[in-house]
Amino acid sequence: MTERTFTPALGRLAPVRHYDTVITLTRERLWRGLVVRHVAPHPDDVIVDVGCGTGSLAVLLGRARPEARIIGLDPDHDVLAVARRKAAAAGVAVQWRVGMGDAVQDAVGAGAASVVVSSLVLHQCPMSMKRAMLASMFAALRPGGRLVIADYGLQRTTLARLGFRLVQLADGIEHTQPNAEGVLPCLISQAGFRNVREAAAVPTITGTISIYTGRRP
Ligand SMILES: C[S@@+](CC[C@H](N)C(=O)[O-])C[C@H]1O[C@@H](n2cnc3c(N)ncnc32)[C@H](O)[C@@H]1O
Repeated sequence: MTERTFTPALGRLAPVRHYDTVITLTRERLWRGLVVRHVAPHPDDVIVDVGCGTGSLAVLLGRARPEARIIGLDPDHDVLAVARRKAAAAGVAVQWRVGMGDAVQDAVGAGAASVVVSSLVLHQCPMSMKRAMLASMFAALRPGGRLVIADYGLQRTTLARLGFRLVQLADGIEHTQPNAEGVLPCLISQAGFRNVREAAAVPTITGTISIYTGRRP
């Protein structure tokens, strides 16, 4: 994989059309609900969902606060086609953009976002891309802007590590293992975010999904 290519939503496991079915295995209602709660969207928010995939989180955020401006960014035209249909069916307005997560500020404008969210993306990316994406999220946020990430983080127990093997089957070991070893809070801090913390940890049969929050000073 090069810097300009990406792992599709279900990795090498299955085509994108099966994504929404497979992802229910991750207790997605629970962790997506926690993301929305931590975002706590305001009417004047500009919220960017980086690696938005089939748009489930963007649609939930739009439902929670229809006045907010929601932007979904993903490099994959196929997932964005699903996302567009989902938002239209739900009657939720989302602006969709095609692009990589290391070019968020190009897609939405430097300092334009009040909140950046990203779910289940960083674990699929090489270390250099994880860093570049977090730097780009930082650049896209206005001072005081907030970051909320939901992704596979530190896998603390044998059971969690076993479950996470399913994810590693789909996405490979190389890019996923640093997440399992707990690299994310460190990378988020290194990108310049402050008050970085693991706000929640949700055990699933595919490993633990953590919610990380931080703030651009
Ligand atoms: C596992 S899916 C998660 C989708 C969605 N965020 C969710 O919560 O269901 C990962 C998504 O990240 C996208 N992706 C992979 N590498 C990316 C990158 N470097 N920048 C932005 N998006 C990326 C993929 O196209 C895919 O849609």
